[in-house]
Amino acid sequence: MSDTHPKRFSVTTPLYYVNGLPHIGSAYTTMAADALARFHRLRGAAVLLITGTDEHGQKIQRTAEQRQLAPQVHCDEIAAGFIDLWQRLNIQYDRFSRTTSDRHTSIVKEFFQRVWDKGDIYLSQQQGWYCVDCEEFKEARDLLPGQVCPIHTHRPVEWRDEQNYFFRLSKYQAALETHYANHPDFIQPDGRRNEVLSFVKSGLQDFSISRVNLDWGIPVPMDPSHTLYVWFDALLGYITALLEPDEAPTLENALKTWWPINLHLIGKDILRFHAVYWPAMLISAGLPLPGTVFGHGFLTKDGQKMGKSLGNTLDPVELVEQYGAEAVRYYFLKEIDLSRDGDFNETRFINIVNADLANDLGNLLNRTLKMALKYCEGKVPSIQSADIPEDIPLVQLAKSAGAESAAAYERLSFHTACEVALNLARAGNKFIDDQAPWSRYKAQDLDSVYQTLYVVLESVRLAAYILSPVIPSLSTKVYQQLGYGVDFNDWQALQVLQYAVHHQWGALPPGQALGQPEPIFQKLELASDMA
Ligand code: MSP
Repeated sequence: MSDTHPKRFSVTTPLYYVNGLPHIGSAYTTMAADALARFHRLRGAAVLLITGTDEHGQKIQRTAEQRQLAPQVHCDEIAAGFIDLWQRLNIQYDRFSRTTSDRHTSIVKEFFQRVWDKGDIYLSQQQGWYCVDCEEFKEARDLLPGQVCPIHTHRPVEWRDEQNYFFRLSKYQAALETHYANHPDFIQPDGRRNEVLSFVKSGLQDFSISRVNLDWGIPVPMDPSHTLYVWFDALLGYITALLEPDEAPTLENALKTWWPINLHLIGKDILRFHAVYWPAMLISAGLPLPGTVFGHGFLTKDGQKMGKSLGNTLDPVELVEQYGAEAVRYYFLKEIDLSRDGDFNETRFINIVNADLANDLGNLLNRTLKMALKYCEGKVPSIQSADIPEDIPLVQLAKSAGAESAAAYERLSFHTACEVALNLARAGNKFIDDQAPWSRYKAQDLDSVYQTLYVVLESVRLAAYILSPVIPSLSTKVYQQLGYGVDFNDWQALQVLQYAVHHQWGALPPGQALGQPEPIFQKLELASDMA
């Protein structure tokens, strides 16, 4: 393992609102965070993947009222729905942070006290248009005709004129600008970084961090007639999550091992909270800042914005039930560039996973294993990888694939990492067709047959290893058929596969007994064709 790999890596998803069951947007961020966490575990780092739920505020209170449920009962039910989906999607999270936990209240109070002692909180009058769905005040110029929030068009924003506590964000403008300048990777991707820089440059205003006439939340410690603004509370959920399960809930305990968090992975709509408000709150409290905030793009369905009112939502639970977790994970991470907006279309989804996983990768493994069974007694041919001519294009491709895919994972370019692996499978298919080992076998040119089979089996192995953070269960099937007793979902056992060896060309041991060839991936059929 090179010294440049972090030994510890902590990554967060947003803490999702529990106003409804998880939608495909929340599933998307969580799949990406899980793939990244798995990549770092593969490389031997100690990893903490944090997810959870954001349960306070007006939006949740109203949803519970509509359902005629006590807010906590409502939150418990929806939080369970998130946990259920993460299991179905094979998400290996380490912490599930809920903002209604008592531990969280203790952390919030201690943090609030620090910021208060710094003199960064004051009482003043707040007037403005509030979007309950965004849980955010909106500038009048940003609203659509009829006082409608451009993101939540189904109901108008509400006028508020009340006393609130404010956080002195304006005081931190220069400190933030210095941080952005000194840490060019703090906000990613670059386009989003530029948006934040110009927003900050235009001048920062203090923002209100309390509400009156709201019960569902944490009371402001020095004035319980106010409830803490849901975002001030929610962001601190990232810190609460760092506590060990049985540890006393103090900031000191929470911060001692995993802070600062390496990466906050979020959608582009909540970038300002994470890249401006949050770091200013942390500077005020005297804490170091997280490494990176990455704002990913938005998903559409069949080219249309998704929404309940539009009636075109995509239910992640249904999708997984229909097609399985591996296909869903693969499509969203391989087909969509995380840094851009992306689209889901069911026909394209099916075509892509069938072409890549069943045909290019699955068939290649299957046909090669069958040949190995026939031509070399079901074993990896006894060829030393060092003896294989360097000028074979597939070998050249394979030699750079490990480093290329690792660099892609590091910059959260999952689609590039997958493409590197798929290129190996495609080149493997071409190589085997060109070499036609079946004819060479007939001609008793056994050296050539062994060489071809070794090169192809090793390329499939490498492709599966590279893909394992994205499709761990399929990669496990490939490895098992290649004769390894390994499970990519059992990361502690996985440490036997040394990263330094397995992410490079030439790891497949000559003479290793191969498993039985079985198709690794059943082709999908469009749900409507299945009836
Ligand atoms: N509760 C806040 C986050 C607090 S973090 C301390 C929140 N929750 S959310 O449930 O509304 O949003 C969660 C995530 O889903 C956000 O990252 C958001 O960008 C993402 N998405 C919501 N709709 C989306 C798409 N259509 N496409 C991709 N992601 C989208 O915000």
